[in-house]
Amino acid sequence: MSNLVYILNGPNLNLLGKRQPHIYGHETLADIEADCARLAAELGLEIRLLQSNHEGQIIDWIHEARTDACGIVINPGAFTHTSVAILDALNAFEGAVIEVHISNVHKRESFRHHSYVSLRADGVIAGCGTQGYQFGLRRVAMLAATAKA
Ligand code: DQA
Repeated sequence: MSNLVYILNGPNLNLLGKRQPHIYGHETLADIEADCARLAAELGLEIRLLQSNHEGQIIDWIHEARTDACGIVINPGAFTHTSVAILDALNAFEGAVIEVHISNVHKRESFRHHSYVSLRADGVIAGCGTQGYQFGLRRVAMLAATAKA
């Protein structure tokens, strides 16, 4: 089984560090990638961190993960609350899926309280800041090891 984990990021997450830092913090996606790469090495995993503002691109990467990856950590951004298509793509993926939100979406506007992706996710992490990605990676490592055993 592959030891590759896709870390997928949806719209506007390319602006992390600059966008609403009081909500999303000062770390950039490059910082998250560096932190996750260090942790992945400890866990015996590899990562591929990707970001797109386009729903179809995210779906194409999920399809790619079907053959390439043992797990997906995904922060779908606003597509969380709108995208049945991303949910369908994740339903076609057999490995572990952990949904991550930097902010605590449940403390925010009510339209952020519903997630299509949560209908598939094996776990959901919200409100832990950018550390949530590392928690997600650890959980994928555990679930992937259990699936192998
Ligand atoms: C987010 C929360 C979403 O509601 C929002 O649209 C985002 C980021 C988060 O990481 O907290 O873009 O997924």
